[in-house]
Amino acid sequence: MQNRDKFTTSRGVMTATLGSAVGLGNIWKFPYFTGKNGGAAFIIIYLICVVLAGLPVMISEFVIGRRANSNPVGAFKKLAPGTAWHAIGYSGIAASFLIMLFYTGVAGWVYSYIFRAISGNFINASPEITREVFGKLITSSYEPIIWQIIVLVVVSSIIIAGVQKGIERMTKALMPLLFVLLLLCDIRALTLPGALNGVEFLFKPDFTKLTREVVIIALGLAFFKLSVGMGTMVTYGSYFDKTQNLPGTAVKVALSDILVSMMAGLAIFPAVFAFGFEPDAGPGLLFITIPMVFSKMPLGNILLAIFFLLTAIAATTAMMSLLEVPVAYLVEEKGCPRTKATLMSAATIALLGSTASLSADTGSLLGGIKIFGKTFFDLYDYISSNILMPMGGLFTVIFIVWVLGKTNLERELSNNGRLNNESVVNLFYIIVKYISPLLIILIFLDSIGILKF
Ligand code: PHE
Repeated sequence: MQNRDKFTTSRGVMTATLGSAVGLGNIWKFPYFTGKNGGAAFIIIYLICVVLAGLPVMISEFVIGRRANSNPVGAFKKLAPGTAWHAIGYSGIAASFLIMLFYTGVAGWVYSYIFRAISGNFINASPEITREVFGKLITSSYEPIIWQIIVLVVVSSIIIAGVQKGIERMTKALMPLLFVLLLLCDIRALTLPGALNGVEFLFKPDFTKLTREVVIIALGLAFFKLSVGMGTMVTYGSYFDKTQNLPGTAVKVALSDILVSMMAGLAIFPAVFAFGFEPDAGPGLLFITIPMVFSKMPLGNILLAIFFLLTAIAATTAMMSLLEVPVAYLVEEKGCPRTKATLMSAATIALLGSTASLSADTGSLLGGIKIFGKTFFDLYDYISSNILMPMGGLFTVIFIVWVLGKTNLERELSNNGRLNNESVVNLFYIIVKYISPLLIILIFLDSIGILKF
């Protein structure tokens, strides 16, 4: 294991980690959850979940990964030999597969929309047309699967190239591009007449929409957004240098991720309001409302193509980190060559992922099949975001406090005393010891109906 591939620069660490955090979560999930659940009121609850649960879990995962210098299963085995703690690693691998099953499907729709936008499919489109285009795509028996396979080929090629030559190099080039494209969309949306209503929607809280369900959704989103509770940040942390400032990196990533979510909201809602549409269109917001809204602008199809291109970039860099989890495990624990590990994982996702693709809509091929009242697509999302990730996060913070212990933690967070961040470390310790676990447990018990508030 001497020659483990690593991120070579601090900037590479930032772009790769931010590349994992920023994804469909910012552009697809965040705006539609916000639209459905009371705008800024939802954002406030979400931010609380990020600060008190998501961020502390991210720092904890960095510590575990870098200290053990290993994939999630190997990391817990090294730090707590002979115990069952490495089950957290396996749960992470399971979660990363479940997420990829539906994530690669949605990413496939996004890829296809770039081409649809360029070819002028949406010029002056009416709501009926954009609804029909989306409906046709997701109810087709083969098209979503072909796009999903294209997505997997792209992501696999990057992963096969390696941590430094693949992930680091690609994210260094793509993340700044994503930011510039998003800025372009923001400027266009914010200069539309009537744009202010959308801004107000994002920043003026409506607390009447807040329910217990919404709090659960916000916690799930915080974990999903920051890619924590399922081994990704353990894996990436294991590629960090010993001089990397762990709390500093996590705070920068979380803040930048929130910035991107807000920028996505500012690209979407002002335009939605300017053209008199509803903000709470649900999952279809991205694929039905957005194409229609953009089609009403001058040069709208070009802007739409840009918008879907930036979404595709965000999704692709996030998927790299998802695929890296099983690949690192197979390479390090099973001695599998990297290329074979990647191709095997991708093939499994392609095979099982079609169940998500083909069940995305109730009218689609497998859409009628319900398990616990959910389609395959929703089930994969629910089990990963609302069960496996919060549980993984909970056990990770318990591990950090009760197994790794305060002294080791202080050493890792201060880079063996080289950083002068004692107060940060103390604050972090109080949060991971008391607040994060309590918050996660309360929300979790509430969500499965054991406790009722
Ligand atoms: N954070 C990514 C997003 O918001 C999704 C993701 C989850 C990526 C878990 C990696 C691990 O889209």
